[in-house]
Amino acid sequence: MSQSLAFPDAAYSVKTTSRPLRVAIFGFGTVGRSVARILVESAPAGLELTHIFNRNVHRKRVDWVPSSVAWSSDADALLGSAEDAPDVILELAGGLEPAGDWVRKALAAGKSVITANKKLIAYHGLELEAIAAAHGSRLLYGAAVAGGIPVIPGLENGLSGDRVERVEGILNGTCNFILSKMEAGAEYGAVLAEAQGMGYAEADPTEDVGGFDARAKLAILIRLALRAQVHPDEIETCSITEVSAIDFSYAKDLNCTIRQIARAERIDGHLAATVRPMLVPLVSPLAWSRGTENMVITTGHYGGDVVFSGHGAGGHPTAVAVVSDLLGLAHGSCRIAIPSTPSKVGTELEVPHYIRFMVNDRPGIVAGIASALAHEKINLNAILQKPGYPLDRLPFVVTVEPCRTSALKRALQEIGRMPALLEKPLDLQILEK
Ligand SMILES: NC(=O)c1ccc[n+]([C@@H]2O[C@H](COP(=O)([O-])OP(=O)(O)OC[C@H]3O[C@@H](n4cnc5c(N)ncnc54)[C@H](OP(=O)(O)O)[C@@H]3O)[C@@H](O)[C@H]2O)c1
Repeated sequence: MSQSLAFPDAAYSVKTTSRPLRVAIFGFGTVGRSVARILVESAPAGLELTHIFNRNVHRKRVDWVPSSVAWSSDADALLGSAEDAPDVILELAGGLEPAGDWVRKALAAGKSVITANKKLIAYHGLELEAIAAAHGSRLLYGAAVAGGIPVIPGLENGLSGDRVERVEGILNGTCNFILSKMEAGAEYGAVLAEAQGMGYAEADPTEDVGGFDARAKLAILIRLALRAQVHPDEIETCSITEVSAIDFSYAKDLNCTIRQIARAERIDGHLAATVRPMLVPLVSPLAWSRGTENMVITTGHYGGDVVFSGHGAGGHPTAVAVVSDLLGLAHGSCRIAIPSTPSKVGTELEVPHYIRFMVNDRPGIVAGIASALAHEKINLNAILQKPGYPLDRLPFVVTVEPCRTSALKRALQEIGRMPALLEKPLDLQILEK
């Protein structure tokens, strides 16, 4: 029998309702099951799991859920106003629809909604919050970014008194798993297969490795941290698939490693954001994250850096964030409404870069690269070339001092016209701390 984790009644007694909040789980998958586990094992006072909804729900029944819980495949019945209908919907099915439709209906019916669905919040969060405000209901999504790490509550409560100027982090556990294994010497294809075998990566990994999952999360963080409303599709992404073993080797020579970094910053009044593989100095906490860990670092004008780290995914860690939202709701605790304004997002930063070339060696290549960089007033920092590669397929690396993204783009376009180049150069930003 599992150990009881019952919350002490005194600490969690609910003052705002005369009867327990009736809770329905929508989606009995990885997170839904873990949420049910916590609710059943810990039995927080003031909360009662009353319904579990899933398509073809008969497949989902488990014997450890109390017999008082109703299993249903009829979403509309649970979203109505029957006397025994739930007060709170936990949307844990994922995807934009029909999850969005359930959430809209629930909020419009005066029910509160807690969701772990980053996509829904990134694309429709403002609309859903407006519905909640119009109907006196509540929408909470503490699990939508970085799973079990309390980044969203941290921004809404702990950091709302600061003016956050930059947010950067590792928001996708799958990419971190792949890149930290590659750092230890594994090849991309083999690690991806391992990640798929362990359930960390989907059969089609594009959402993760292409940066699309992380940019949805970054869009939410930009709204809460930098107070700017951006469309997730406007955030530039770059896949980690271009990174190879040789890049880890060169990164090591530069006292760095490589991670998929989601980064957003205000520079001279402009907002820049990107999700891409970057060189991370080994002294940065971001370099220490291994496996599926997530990490977010915020930089505040007044309070400086704050680091959040831990398990960014997984049923139990994510469920902790969902149940914490639920307890906050049961206690009537207030979310601080963070104001935000519509913003354009660009890519213009001023940072150092690592550029890896693959060339058919011939005289004049380095001179040509140096000349194109100089034309854009970009200072070359170092040239690195490892021995032992064939001259007709020779990799080498150039690092440049902090320069404007647009200037480097123009220089790389010019360099791209050189006949000796065998493939598009790999351009990685270098984090500066
Ligand atoms: N897993 C994590 O580590 C994690 C971390 C942070 C956030 N999240 C978010 O949490 C949510 C749930 O993720 P998960 O990993 O638990 O997903 P999951 O394991 O795929 O579970 C989703 C559940 O919802 C059900 N479902 C999906 N579409 C449905 C529909 N149209 N009608 C009825 N039932 C439906 C699925 O039923 P079937 O079995 O029939 O498919 C499944 O039982 C997602 O928004 C995800 O982004 C997950």
